Amino acid sequence: ALLPVVAAVAAYLIGSLSFAVIVSSLMGLNDPRTYGSGNPGATNVLRSGSKAAAALTLLLDAVKGLVPVLLVRLLGPDYGLHEGTLALVAIAAFLGHLFPVFFKFKGGKGVATALGVLLGLSGWLGLFVLLTWLAVAFTTRYSSLSALVAAVLAPVYYILLGGSLWTYDKPVLLAVIAMSALLLWRHAQNIGRLLKGQESKIGSKKDKAA
Ligand code: G3P
Repeated sequence: ALLPVVAAVAAYLIGSLSFAVIVSSLMGLNDPRTYGSGNPGATNVLRSGSKAAAALTLLLDAVKGLVPVLLVRLLGPDYGLHEGTLALVAIAAFLGHLFPVFFKFKGGKGVATALGVLLGLSGWLGLFVLLTWLAVAFTTRYSSLSALVAAVLAPVYYILLGGSLWTYDKPVLLAVIAMSALLLWRHAQNIGRLLKGQESKIGSKKDKAA
């Protein structure tokens, strides 16, 4: 009974590594919490003008979601861990990013970390969600809108890939739904800006000057 708790705490601690802040600091850039949207995430790090820092943030924030989930999925059964622990670890890593213990519980919106978690749960699920994000991003250039559409579709993809709602792992489906709901909630300000036509677009010149 102890192992699932240890796994969840470890996932939460790894998720708490806010790579937007860490990478920016290591690369000598401004703290992403002080400019743009103020969000410690890859999209906002891109507004610093450093594509390399943004790419590294995206990669590491995704990897910290991917690794704990993949470890439980692949090694868990050998240690008596099943879908309940998989769901717990998935949510724990994601919550670490949103409420990082190392950064006064002020974290990001969870897009990159959710993508990593979903890739860990199922390669196909992660791929479909990533393609959805890219399709919306290429057509609209809104990072936030791309994440919102991908988040709404993630549970739908999970159900479709699993065959049916009733046979697939229910704890994991619940974790995917909870993650999407939290992600939408974290984008409340973005939704407001999108509705008012004030959301900034990826690569916008206005941002770079800021
Ligand atoms: O990665 C979060 C993204 O969806 C929105 O970021 O900085 O524009 O609020 P931002």
